[in-house]
Amino acid sequence: MGSPNNKPARIFSLHHHTSLPCTRAHQIGALLLIATTFFLTRVFDQSFSTCPPSSLNHDHSSPNVVHVSDGGSLSWPQRGYGPHLSLKIYVYEEDEIDGLKELLRGRDGKISADACLKGQWGTQVKIHGLLLKSRLRTRKKEEADLFFVPAYAKCVRMMGGLNDKEINHTYVKVLSQMPYFRRSGGRDHVFVFPSGAGAHLFRSWATYINRSIILTPEADRTDKKDTSAFNTWKDIIIPGNVEDGMTKRGVAMVQPLPLSKRKYLANYLGRAQGKVGRLKLIELAKQFPDKVCFNGHGRNSSAFGLDIYRFVIELETLAYCSDAFPRKRNRDYECLWVECVPVILSDQAEFPFQNVIDYTQISIKWPSTRIGLELLEYLESIPDEKIEQMLAAGRQVRCLWVYAPEFESCSAMQGILWELQRKVRQFHQSAETFWLHNRTIVDRHLVEFSSWDPPMPLPR
Ligand SMILES: *[C@@H]1O[C@H](CO)[C@@H](O)[C@H](O)[C@H]1NC(C)=O
Ligand SMILES: *[C@@H]1O[C@H](CO)[C@@H](O)[C@H](O)[C@H]1NC(C)=O
Ligand SMILES: *[C@@H]1O[C@H](CO)[C@@H](O)[C@H](O)[C@H]1NC(C)=O
Ligand SMILES: *[C@@H]1O[C@H](CO)[C@@H](O)[C@H](O)[C@H]1NC(C)=O
Repeated sequence: MGSPNNKPARIFSLHHHTSLPCTRAHQIGALLLIATTFFLTRVFDQSFSTCPPSSLNHDHSSPNVVHVSDGGSLSWPQRGYGPHLSLKIYVYEEDEIDGLKELLRGRDGKISADACLKGQWGTQVKIHGLLLKSRLRTRKKEEADLFFVPAYAKCVRMMGGLNDKEINHTYVKVLSQMPYFRRSGGRDHVFVFPSGAGAHLFRSWATYINRSIILTPEADRTDKKDTSAFNTWKDIIIPGNVEDGMTKRGVAMVQPLPLSKRKYLANYLGRAQGKVGRLKLIELAKQFPDKVCFNGHGRNSSAFGLDIYRFVIELETLAYCSDAFPRKRNRDYECLWVECVPVILSDQAEFPFQNVIDYTQISIKWPSTRIGLELLEYLESIPDEKIEQMLAAGRQVRCLWVYAPEFESCSAMQGILWELQRKVRQFHQSAETFWLHNRTIVDRHLVEFSSWDPPMPLPR
């Protein structure tokens, strides 16, 4: 029943010595690359580094088999790593856990999901909605690979539905009612934190969900104290929210202006906020008004698109480029940022889907310490053919920034599911779980997993 013991035996010997020339990591990497190329075009083929194909098939072995010391072999699970999406995600129900409703709708239950769909934090609603409809959703906890904990906490807080203290308290209450969270120490539980502060929104996150998988949008991930709740090995960077109206399908694309007709070199989209690099950019825009615009688009509403610029200077994300557009003019574009080459000036920025997207082919990242005339001269020196190439490469992957329904073969959600699949582990344990000779999982008091009763002691 609720026990994890019904899963087939999986014995992962510690003594395996593989005779293959590739390391295990290489093999998994190669598999993932095979997997991920499914939904991406071949633009980035050259950037994939895999073991030579011959070494993978050497010794009559398939790439997911590891030979162990007694002559036997362990086959790497297809599920989780295989060439197609195959994972099972359990989505916690609003009424199943006391407190979850408050995290979704505020203390009075009055905040609607629709109200939380807009703006930066729309991703937490979209991902939840897409998972509820997903073919990968399971309603059986015992077969789930991952558990999704829905919460619109950022939106609820902005709308006065819960304060910081209540958010912290409610999260802890919610987690203490989840035996599966306890079993893995949170390792197979997935959270979305859709604002710049990331998981810091839950004040005691570091104590309780430190081991969980956190989805957080592309941006500079450091907070005011320069600490980051983002861990590159366990967490997943997701595309920021692009308003639905901007990504409508089936609308004829506007032909981007040829480079030769583009009047300006670059547009800097953003606010100054008293930061040194940003002030320098604004200074540059004043000095060279014929080259650089500061929020040029807002100022010159008669221009049609960002494509009057060759480059867009971005601080943190590729998606902002589209977000900064005046709303009414957008509907003719799908995802706009590709019509100019993003120049990223935030040293700390992190980007989504780095397993499959080679950002050198679609963008430029320049040191924030070297903002000045040197940057303009450099941008001017880039030949048009090169810019065309980068725009074309960007156009091919921009679908990954759109939170489209699952039947679309390329979307932000497809990308996120592939990334989640990489995080699947067959066996989960924590400092507070133990197992016996007969594969029974027990707690410190030797109580069997199926009999664990909430509230549970939480990781500390
Ligand atoms: C968060 O809530 C837990 C449980 O109520 C409490 O122990 C902890 O001190 C709180 N953290 C902060 C930073 O207030
Ligand atoms: C996460 O938890 C572990 C174990 O309690 C601790 O050693 C580590 O410092 C924590 N990480 C952060 C960022 O607080
Ligand atoms: C605004 O855009 C229009 C159309 O592209 C152009 O004719 C005009 O010169 C621009 N104005 C400024 C201040 O850049
Ligand atoms: C496993 O072993 C423990 C300790 O001997 C025992 O209490 C428990 O009932 C066993 N569980 C099963 C499923 O046989």
